Amino acid sequence: MKTIIYSMDEIEQAGAVIRAGGLVAFPTETVYGLGANALDADAARRIFAAKGRPQDNPLIAHIADLAMLDELCHDIPDTARRIAERFWPGPLTMALPKRAVVPDTVTAGLQTVGIRFPSHPVAQALIRAAGVPIAAPSANRSGKPSPTTFAHVFADMNGRIDGIIDGGNAEVGVESTFIEFVNGKVRILRPGYITPEDLAEVVGAENVEIDGAVLRGLSENEHPRSPGMKYRHYAPSAPVIAVLGANGDCAREIRRGVRGHTGAAAIVCDEYVDLIPCETLRVGRYGDYAAQAHRLFDALRELDRPDVEIIYAQCPDDRGVGLAVANRLKRAAGFHVVNARHLTVLGLTGSTGAGKGVVSHALADAGAKIIDCDAVYHEMLAHDAAMLADLQAEFPAAFEEGRLDRKALGRIVFRDSAKLERLNAVVHPHIRRHIAALLDELETQGTALAVLDAPTLFESGADQTCDFTLGVTADPDVRVARIMARDGLDADYAALRIRAGKPDGYYSAKCDFMIENNGAPEDAECAARAVLKKVILQ
Ligand code: TXA
Ligand code: MG
Repeated sequence: MKTIIYSMDEIEQAGAVIRAGGLVAFPTETVYGLGANALDADAARRIFAAKGRPQDNPLIAHIADLAMLDELCHDIPDTARRIAERFWPGPLTMALPKRAVVPDTVTAGLQTVGIRFPSHPVAQALIRAAGVPIAAPSANRSGKPSPTTFAHVFADMNGRIDGIIDGGNAEVGVESTFIEFVNGKVRILRPGYITPEDLAEVVGAENVEIDGAVLRGLSENEHPRSPGMKYRHYAPSAPVIAVLGANGDCAREIRRGVRGHTGAAAIVCDEYVDLIPCETLRVGRYGDYAAQAHRLFDALRELDRPDVEIIYAQCPDDRGVGLAVANRLKRAAGFHVVNARHLTVLGLTGSTGAGKGVVSHALADAGAKIIDCDAVYHEMLAHDAAMLADLQAEFPAAFEEGRLDRKALGRIVFRDSAKLERLNAVVHPHIRRHIAALLDELETQGTALAVLDAPTLFESGADQTCDFTLGVTADPDVRVARIMARDGLDADYAALRIRAGKPDGYYSAKCDFMIENNGAPEDAECAARAVLKKVILQ
């Protein structure tokens, strides 16, 4: 089928197509709709075919004046009229008892029909040009995010429908608020730009309810009030994870999630875009729900590509229009929602003799909880039954009467790098598990900042749980002098120690922040405080 593109000056022609039973996509203030004559069952059937939409998912009818409302519906509650007066024309749809003129195909057999009076001038002009109410779902292929631009509609519908009116970008960006009336109350089946608070201004907060399916997934056999709620929706092909929490907490959570994952992409608020180490789309300032609503579907579509394997998306809270954005995002995520960790974890590592201890003390003085990973390891060698059992299975010769002889273990791995590797393979997972438990505890206590002080931060994989990493180095001659003073070694032996460690450049290549500790301790402390300022995100 050849799809004709109409400009906004060609609405009369487009209206004639609809009157004749054809399908024309058109802009509204929320999203693009796929329109057909709402009084013509055959035309409505074509909508279902073009979208690939299940037959049991009803369409809403768009009107351009209140006379049309009375032609399509009966027994309209007074509350509905008051709400219409306040919010129409605009992004609000009401389910009302339908008259016989509305075909059952349109309502999928329901006795109510969703009525919407859009404010978009092109939508209104099209309805008037057609001379009939227009049944229109969003103009996307079923399951995909609703289209907010002409390009989205063209991508989904070219060749499947008679025409598309090119009317620029939809302003609101999420579909209309959908309400029904039950026992004198207003129930929100789908949140949108008209918020619960807005509706409460007309009918009182005690008369506004939010349907359960808005906030959570439906269970297997649950019957939704709104048929559309039961389908996976708005979803790009890659799985989506919705991340909830304060702005900085979300940024860190997403950063940890995507790090080292080549197929990862992210959708975040503007403030911390630069922190996320993968393809990242911004959707507006934190708390600017209208901007996020406007951008969300476009972002989800942009990431609907074979090379994108997982999408982390920052989810707003449920206030105001945030409710609508969060609802769409959670559905796109199949209700895979993660609460962002509040605790910031800074990994601290560095070369021997560089003066990591000075930095660690400065961070503790500034209020950070320090986890000394060496001490944790030694504690675990003494008491961690699970780790000791695995060690005994791997190194039976290091155990005597069931007790670990640490010196014997040291001798076994000292000159045998393969054995040392085995040892690390056994203990590192246990250490990571233990550290994760310690961090969980700090998170529960509401701690803001923890420092993982670990000489083998990267080798042990403990860096994975860190938000940021800080390396401390110093020039070799400085380090030699420090090792001599600290451990009472001679210069040759101290130099040997340094050569046994990581080469120069190892830490600077891996760490987010570096401190070159060649000067006085006060300089290192000052540098440590500067790093703290950068990792505390608000
Ligand atoms: O902003 C919008 O509402 C856009 C533009 C084009 O107007 N339209 C739109 O339509 O989003 P659609 O079909 O994509 O979504 C309508 C939703 C569906 O989930 C459907 O199941 C539900 O409303 N619905 C329609 N009629 C209903 C009824 N009588 N009772 C309960 N839910 C209904
Ligand atoms: Mg839709």
